[in-house]
Amino acid sequence: MTQVFINGARDELNVREFESLDPSIQELILAATEARKQAYCPYSNFAVGAALRTSDGTIYSGCNIENGAYATCICAERTAAVKAISEAKRDFVACAVVAQQDNGFTTPCGVCRQFLSEFVNGKDIPLYAAKPTNLPLRVLCTSVLQLLPNSFSFSNGK
Ligand code: THU
Repeated sequence: MTQVFINGARDELNVREFESLDPSIQELILAATEARKQAYCPYSNFAVGAALRTSDGTIYSGCNIENGAYATCICAERTAAVKAISEAKRDFVACAVVAQQDNGFTTPCGVCRQFLSEFVNGKDIPLYAAKPTNLPLRVLCTSVLQLLPNSFSFSNGK
């Protein structure tokens, strides 16, 4: 069995064949793969695509968008999320992330984990990480809260 490392821990139990996933998840991964083609990443040359499905079935996708002032870069996950939220859709039911890293799956950075956790709303958001060219395609199946346990959420304590 191939060993898969995520966050420093072996996680091969959560890796599935693309073909075994629900067609709606397959479609989401393909949308992220397509969005990745628009990545603007002249500095890192690391292209990422993401897609979010909302509860009405709509898919919002996005790519990473870099900037000469590096701190201004936007990850693919947040591009997809801000597109949805600014269209009044924030009931996310699934997320897909696609990028090519030979030695593991690409999962959202810490900022994106926090950003997405804002919209979990007690239900968690399943998250599927895949590579664009890794046939037969294998997919890491996880979730926003698995990736960010004990996350901060704003509360005034009342
Ligand atoms: N990046 C994403 O868009 N999503 C991720 O999940 C990981 C990192 C982007 C940010 C930057 O443009 C490039 O990948 C290298 O870090």
